[in-house]
Amino acid sequence: AERRQLGANGEKAEYGSATTQQHTVGFVPTMGYLHEGHASLMHKAREMADTVVLSIFVNPIQFGPNEDLDSYPRDEERDLEVARREGVDIVFLPTVAEMYPQPTRTKIRVSSLTDRLCGASRPGHFDGVTTVVAKLFNMVGPDLAFFGMKDAQQVAVLQQMVTDLNMNVTIVPCPIVREADGLALSSRNVYLSAEQREQALVLSHSLRKVREVSEDVVQNTLTILQLYQMVESTITSSPLADIDYIEILTFPGLEPLPPKQRLSDVEEDIIVALAVKFGNTRLIDNMRIQKA
Ligand code: PAJ
Repeated sequence: AERRQLGANGEKAEYGSATTQQHTVGFVPTMGYLHEGHASLMHKAREMADTVVLSIFVNPIQFGPNEDLDSYPRDEERDLEVARREGVDIVFLPTVAEMYPQPTRTKIRVSSLTDRLCGASRPGHFDGVTTVVAKLFNMVGPDLAFFGMKDAQQVAVLQQMVTDLNMNVTIVPCPIVREADGLALSSRNVYLSAEQREQALVLSHSLRKVREVSEDVVQNTLTILQLYQMVESTITSSPLADIDYIEILTFPGLEPLPPKQRLSDVEEDIIVALAVKFGNTRLIDNMRIQKA
């Protein structure tokens, strides 16, 4: 019998099919210029699925007019080596003409979850993400799809899409992979100058403090406002940091929390999410605080 996992909460549903063998397809969608963060998704897919499919497609419709679509870093040969090393079975490298052969009149838009964070700074970005991911899901037909918590809002939005549209795929969120000094891996890190790279550590440092506070029985009586101020002061200690947002929200609902509420009194998972520019390079990072 074929078994599939379904649903937002991971509840299992079973589909009886006497003739079908259980064979799962794991899918890792990317925009290429692969690093160890992407590799960790392929690794997880290799562990969990029978066939692993990787896609590499720099999706024009998720970039704003003043964003880095044209300069987005690319290195196909190296990417294929990473895929081979991670035991990927199939690499899907569509062209823009193949993905969008005619002007698209259908868009997938997830409301409310896309209003905040990167949705506010990058209007239309998530419509581009949900539309291309839905198209890729239809082309690849995965049972499992792997996404990094580096883009936590993307995970929340895609999970909502899959649930709302009854897509027969399970989203598997995977942990953020960091450099030894804490910087979250990103294809965009290559844009940073040595000085910016050094100062970019304020993101992970501020989030590490968040983690420490949340795990400390005395300090976790801090309020949401105090937590915010702690993060903000760490980031502003870097003269090159230009803050786009610092937000403390529930996860995956992405609802704001009352500033006076104590961290220890919050009953849902929380996410502290940051977007900070260094020169023209916008970096994001986040820390999730899970409630028992
Ligand atoms: P891209 O930025 O290439 O990222 C592909 C996947 O790798 C995403 O799920 C992202 O969260 C994950 N990832 C990136 N850096 C990571 C890190 N340091 N640790 C763990 N995972 C990391 O996200 C996209 O592409 C696009 O929006 C896409 C989903 C492919 C749609 O176009």
